[in-house]
Amino acid sequence: MAAGRGAPRMRPLLWPIFLAVCGVSSAAPGRFWHISDLHLDPNYTVSQDPREVCPSAGSQLVHNAGPWGDYLCDSPWALINASIYAMKEIEPEPDFILWTGDDTPHVPDEKLGEAAVLEIVGRLTSLIREVFPDTKVYAAMGNHDFHPKSQFPAKSNSIYHQVAELWRPWLRNESVALFKEGAFYSETLPGASSAHRIVVLNTNLYYSNNRLTADIADPSQQFQWLDAVLTNASQAGEKVYIIGHIPPGFFEKTRDKAWFRSGFNKEYLKAVRKHHRVIAGQFFGHQHTDSFRMFYDDAGAPISVMFLAPGVTPWKTTLVGVVNGANNPGIRLFEYDRATLSLQDMMTYFMNLSQANAQNNPRWELEYRLTEAYGVPDASVRSMQEVATGIASDQDKLQRYYDYNSVSYDTTPCGETCRTEFLCAMQEVDFDAYSICLRSMGARPRIEVLLALLAMLLGLQALLAP
Ligand SMILES: *[C@@H]1O[C@H](CO)[C@@H](O)[C@H](O)[C@H]1NC(C)=O
Ligand SMILES: *[C@@H]1O[C@H](CO)[C@@H](O)[C@H](O)[C@H]1NC(C)=O
Ligand SMILES: *[C@@H]1O[C@H](CO)[C@@H](O)[C@H](O)[C@H]1NC(C)=O
Ligand SMILES: *[C@@H]1O[C@H](CO)[C@@H](O)[C@H](O)[C@H]1NC(C)=O
Ligand SMILES: *[C@@H]1O[C@H](CO)[C@@H](O)[C@H](O)[C@H]1NC(C)=O
Ligand SMILES: [Zn+2]
Ligand SMILES: [Zn+2]
Repeated sequence: MAAGRGAPRMRPLLWPIFLAVCGVSSAAPGRFWHISDLHLDPNYTVSQDPREVCPSAGSQLVHNAGPWGDYLCDSPWALINASIYAMKEIEPEPDFILWTGDDTPHVPDEKLGEAAVLEIVGRLTSLIREVFPDTKVYAAMGNHDFHPKSQFPAKSNSIYHQVAELWRPWLRNESVALFKEGAFYSETLPGASSAHRIVVLNTNLYYSNNRLTADIADPSQQFQWLDAVLTNASQAGEKVYIIGHIPPGFFEKTRDKAWFRSGFNKEYLKAVRKHHRVIAGQFFGHQHTDSFRMFYDDAGAPISVMFLAPGVTPWKTTLVGVVNGANNPGIRLFEYDRATLSLQDMMTYFMNLSQANAQNNPRWELEYRLTEAYGVPDASVRSMQEVATGIASDQDKLQRYYDYNSVSYDTTPCGETCRTEFLCAMQEVDFDAYSICLRSMGARPRIEVLLALLAMLLGLQALLAP
């Protein structure tokens, strides 16, 4: 090659190939929906009697309930129906839909039972199939989609079987068979120009409330399976999206509240660190809040992001230590590059519930577009690290993140305690790193936590978790 020349001149024959490759990545992005935590309360009624509105409010009184739901209650059918139809109106032809579980109301097990749980999962499945008859849906079970709730066995059982049959229209036969064993599966994605993959995990097996898996090192051998799937994907040159219901790491709306048992949290992190090059995104639910989690390697470089979708249910959590933990109903749409699965943008749409009820009009509007809200070029790991740094260093960005967290329900100022808890949860999925983060920010014990401890001692502990 002659000295001083930049790139070697391309031979004419290569041009069409070069253009085709560029054409793919500059083509219109693919889109997919992510919805989570619909939590239907089938007995919601618009009653003038504040004790009669919804079983999911427990003993709380619900005044002035509206037709589209109430912040103290799980979703009425009208809200769930409106959210699925809103998806159809906003983006009727997504490449696929991610649905990360929790379909039933927050009521004691005795009020539901296996038949009622399966009926509700079936009703939501039928609605989504009716509205999106030709769309692939990747569905994961939530801890509320089992009876008794959260008690997912590490072996085949009748509920896994029945849910697999409900979802058969969306699944390959091999996935149905695998689902019946452990409620997890993996398939190649449609719409992608080269073969890429989705992994649907059953992280209910790792939930600290699940008594059945407490003493098992690798329940249903899901970690071993995940390692094999990701190793295979790497060898095949595939990229992978991982979805599930319960996320690893900590809840940002209180302190020291992790969802996984410690050993499982470690194992999950290990898998992400080992395979981050093939993981193009992680999508989870369960918290009902809009937030994200950064994953770092041992040297502190950002390697992966987990996006947590807000709930459709507005239900105010009764989890001890959380203040005013309700949210507006939210649904979200991602834009991605079909050739690489790299995430380009994320739009969250919401229903202002108080307004919808006041005007009797279930309007869904764009709450925010990630790239605009935070001034980043896309939703890649590098950009999300920039977002995280921005939130940590700029009070306006922190407040923005806080407002979006409850889907613009709670827009009160995020003070010192809030800042510490939001930042440490966002940046530290590892248990030890999270504790160090709290200490390094000079965290003092929260008055809510002390009061909660006191309440627990007095036997007043709240009965229901999200
Ligand atoms: C569901 O929403 C659609 C679209 O708004 C509406 O036409 C239909 O009547 C609703 N169904 C119920 C049962 O609310
Ligand atoms: C709904 O009401 C029916 C009839 O009263 C009752 O049997 C059922 O337990 C209730 N379901 C829930 C989820 O509260
Ligand atoms: C999948 O299983 C169903 C029912 O067991 C069977 O009828 C169908 O032929 C199978 N499809 C494929 C592609 O194997
Ligand atoms: C990984 O690939 C091997 C070889 O193709 C295959 O036998 C195995 O079932 C795959 N593992 C998983 C978990 O998909
Ligand atoms: C939602 O509606 C209420 C009452 O109509 C209003 O006060 C509030 O500002 C609205 N919130 C947003 C985020 O638009
Ligand atoms: Zn939930
Ligand atoms: Zn849940």
